[in-house]
Amino acid sequence: MEILVLNGSPKGDLSVTMQYVAFLAKKNPGHTFPIVNIAQRINQLETDPVAFDAVVAQVRKADAVLWAFPVYYMLVHGNFKRFIELVHERGAAPAFGGKYAASLSTSIRFFDHTAHNYINAVADDWGMRYHGRYSAKMSDLLDPAERDRLAAFAAAFLAAAARGLPTARAHQPLVPAGGRYTPGPAAAPVDTGGRKVLLVTDEGPDDANLAAMTARLAAAFTGPVETVNLRDLDIKGGCLGCCRCAWDNTCVYDGSDGFTAFYREKVEPADIVLYAGAVRDRYLSAKWKSYFDRTFFKNHVPTLSGKQFAFLVSGPLAQLANLRQILEAYGEFQHTGFLGIVTDEGDPAHTDALLDRLAADAVAQASQRYLPPPSFLSVAGGKLFRDEIWSRMRFPFVADHKYFKANGLYDFPHRDRADRLRSFLLYWLVHIPAVRKQVYGPQITTHMIAPLKKLVDSL
Ligand SMILES: Cc1cc2nc3c(=O)[nH]c(=O)nc-3n(C[C@H](O)[C@H](O)[C@H](O)COP(=O)(O)O)c2cc1C
Repeated sequence: MEILVLNGSPKGDLSVTMQYVAFLAKKNPGHTFPIVNIAQRINQLETDPVAFDAVVAQVRKADAVLWAFPVYYMLVHGNFKRFIELVHERGAAPAFGGKYAASLSTSIRFFDHTAHNYINAVADDWGMRYHGRYSAKMSDLLDPAERDRLAAFAAAFLAAAARGLPTARAHQPLVPAGGRYTPGPAAAPVDTGGRKVLLVTDEGPDDANLAAMTARLAAAFTGPVETVNLRDLDIKGGCLGCCRCAWDNTCVYDGSDGFTAFYREKVEPADIVLYAGAVRDRYLSAKWKSYFDRTFFKNHVPTLSGKQFAFLVSGPLAQLANLRQILEAYGEFQHTGFLGIVTDEGDPAHTDALLDRLAADAVAQASQRYLPPPSFLSVAGGKLFRDEIWSRMRFPFVADHKYFKANGLYDFPHRDRADRLRSFLLYWLVHIPAVRKQVYGPQITTHMIAPLKKLVDSL
């Protein structure tokens, strides 16, 4: 069989992910694995219809498709996302219909599941027969047990494609949501108290609802709201994945485009940051995706830390649990006072009320310096970053290491001596039968609440 590999890495052949594909090709000499470097060639695919049509013809001819990509900001690279948009825009999705598909990623497994969910949903939308996902950690290939696991996944995929086994559909088609959003009379605007408010949007001529939402929100503050449209930003290209920034947060594009200057001069000094975008397929636009990718010049540093932050989304977010999780996780792991997401799905008066409330909440929370407590999304993600940057990723991520050290982010449990001593003593004490009988008997629940109760009683 011919398994067409759609390569989502901006590094083309020099991609980590492609080493996994090369391994699969060696393991399965009876099949061919031609590779198309989609992310690396996006400019050509966008501007040269012949080149784009040639890729679509390759898809049509293939027996199956392997989406192979690095995870970038909880999704795929912005260029890969743009390819998906081009397929929609140019009506090429039928070429994918009925094809067996699988997705293969490499990453450090930070929100790898949301990237695969996205590709799974796109495959479902295009009528592909999505077999499943394989998320490898970057260095898994060096481990014999991991190689066996990957080989087994590929064997199952090839067998399913050859035998035409049934596949499950995980995502229902999107139903257009909401109607035209026309704002009603403005409420009394809220005083920003001199705080800097930045609103970043990517609205274009077809995004009337989004434009109306951003205008309404900007008018809900008394002070100036600086509104920046991503379409006007000087961004020469997507993140190259070169990791030049890992040493000192300077980007390879510095001096040739305006992205990092914009980020440092507008985003970092703002007190309230609002991002606005319209749903395109199952995410926001590729333009937004490239924006997030390019913020990687700050590596794993939470650059929005302490700011009040929200998203405005035009489109059927209620049907896009995966996108909601990505946006919420972004707000959380950036350590922001995340205010939530306002969409245009309800009736216009309700959207007006939500926008007015968002402005009021942003100022109120900013004056209280309120940041919501973290949940699993950022606690788990934070531990993952902490462990990786402390160990394997300290090189090349030198700037990250310095930041994590200086800001107390290396909060390993073994550093808490009191906790260790307590656990050590109790661990051995409960090996004594008489103590154990007491502790695991009626006492355990009262013991659990004892310090909390003592505190509350003392108030
Ligand atoms: C801009 C950027 C964003 C990234 N985002 C994520 C991420 O969200 N989750 C993750 O686990 N790894 C992330 N990574 C790590 C890559 O997924 C990983 O290095 C991958 O193996 C690179 O594969 P490639 O060489 O095929 O491009 C990111 C890397 C870069 C440069």
